[in-house]
Amino acid sequence: MRALTTIEQLSTDEILQLVKRARQLKAGSPSQVPTGLTAANLFFEASTRTKMSFEMAERKVGLTVLPFEANFSSASKGESLYDTVKTLEAIGVNVLVIRHPENMYFEALIGKVKPVIINGGDGTGNHPTQSLLDLMTLLDEFEDLQGKTITIVGDLAHSRVARSNVQVLSRLGANLQFVSPLEWQAEFPVLYSLDEALPNSDVVMLLRVQHERHDEHQSFTKEHYHSLYGMTKQRMDAMQEHAIILHPAPFNRGVEIADDVVEGSKSRIFKQMENGVYMRMAILEHLLKEEAE
Ligand code: CP
Repeated sequence: MRALTTIEQLSTDEILQLVKRARQLKAGSPSQVPTGLTAANLFFEASTRTKMSFEMAERKVGLTVLPFEANFSSASKGESLYDTVKTLEAIGVNVLVIRHPENMYFEALIGKVKPVIINGGDGTGNHPTQSLLDLMTLLDEFEDLQGKTITIVGDLAHSRVARSNVQVLSRLGANLQFVSPLEWQAEFPVLYSLDEALPNSDVVMLLRVQHERHDEHQSFTKEHYHSLYGMTKQRMDAMQEHAIILHPAPFNRGVEIADDVVEGSKSRIFKQMENGVYMRMAILEHLLKEEAE
């Protein structure tokens, strides 16, 4: 496999193998990436977690990481993504992690370029590595997801995280519930009340309200959204004893999540970030194992 662009391209077995390998790497197993390979992270949209987590993972598996700043690259002079990738191919880069605002940007690259392509997020389409690290975090908590009720809450319309997670979670037998305001429900069959969805939820997966993708007529006030859909301490306390809260972050404190829930007893948000490094190491290993030095 020369790319990871969507969850659909992975079999369920491959997904579970990645979780297993990420756990081994977290427990200290040495990585098995060939030596002498080089990576670059091409982020044309803002990122803290995905970019830094990939860079940490790349260094941990022994890759040389070339810095790339989109704003100071020739993309700002109009160079296309394809030409940027061909340039990096020519100078010897072996793996590229790319985040780009255009949905399915990778279709213009796959089969035409030599570097391994990993999708770090395409527009509102896919975020496969986030889903895999979310799954690792869920399987740290529950033996399996068969019959577990997972409630995904918030800005579904703009969420590549939700789209990739639906793929993985439904394949593994979870019951999915969606809670969203009408204007952000997109293709999902939603409940309009978070309070109605909480009592039977084993997991509540909060989504970031993506203010930057909204026009001014779409957006709720922060207070209004928080009162209807925000995870407050009171709502967290109303969840089942064993239930947990995930959020891919960055989170809007006081909008989709209250300050005192971020590090509350049910939150696994920072565990998701920690697991992300090991999941990305496992992904790099899986994709690069056959690359010759
Ligand atoms: N979860 C996530 O994708 O975060 P970043 O936008 O900071 O990468």
